[in-house]
Amino acid sequence: MTVLDTRAHVAARPQEPGPARHPRTRTYGMCPPEHFDVTYAINPWMRPGVDVDLDRAMTQWQVLRETYRSLGHRVEELPAQPGQPDMVFAANGALVVRDRAYGARFRHPERHAEAAAHATWLETLGLDVVEPQHVNEGEGDFLTLGSMILGGTGFRTTLDAHVEAAQLLDRPVVSLELVDPRFYHLDVALGVLDDGNGEAPADIAYLPQAFSRHSQRTLAELFPDALRCTMDDALAFGLNLVSDGQRVVLPTAARDLTAALEGRGYTPVPVDLSELLKGGGSIKCCTMEMHA
Ligand code: ARG
Repeated sequence: MTVLDTRAHVAARPQEPGPARHPRTRTYGMCPPEHFDVTYAINPWMRPGVDVDLDRAMTQWQVLRETYRSLGHRVEELPAQPGQPDMVFAANGALVVRDRAYGARFRHPERHAEAAAHATWLETLGLDVVEPQHVNEGEGDFLTLGSMILGGTGFRTTLDAHVEAAQLLDRPVVSLELVDPRFYHLDVALGVLDDGNGEAPADIAYLPQAFSRHSQRTLAELFPDALRCTMDDALAFGLNLVSDGQRVVLPTAARDLTAALEGRGYTPVPVDLSELLKGGGSIKCCTMEMHA
């Protein structure tokens, strides 16, 4: 048995270049953390009363905004509302595909008022905003690919909302069941690396254990070559990433994922958003994409 020299052999082999990746210019919606705070707990990451350094939160958020701009993307800003400390997590306010926005209906009363603020703002951008009948938290639980939308359920967004979104946006929604409360939104359990709208096929990274058995099977069927993330990186919010198809903006702390992305031909762009982690969110949570 010659088992021990396998690793040395792998390490000595020259690294194969990953597949060619192509960036596409995006438009993002973001909301400054002017009123960010942790005054209630609606996910296991939140500790009400924890010290929040607002200046630090604002500086980190501005770095994220300027990172997008320096990559050539457009950022639209939604004005923050007093009394809505979670509004910085702009991804939750709607699901925008082309000229239509499927509005949010938040699960927890603490966030109810955010939905109307998003709807009004999206209307000023010229979008057709549809008020939802069912509980859904926008891009927190809906991730858009070229051919389908992945929908999370189990903690926040309902299955009825998946059906509603599919009808309104005229795209199939694949429902995925989340089972670990630490990964209460789809966008903390799964990250879209390539939406499949360009030349390359859709590509995702995810944490299998965050999903029910049947949803793990759905994901394995749909994305047999997906990047599987470690628990440590997922707990560092590594999957809460934003990709333009080539450059992947992700939390600095997700080190293995960062290395794995390079091996797949992506360019990782680490950003530290640690102050906002106190609210249970990171990069993707702060970023609503207006999908073309
Ligand atoms: N405190 C917020 C909540 O629990 C965080 C939302 C994070 N957003 C996200 N897209 N995962 O609702």
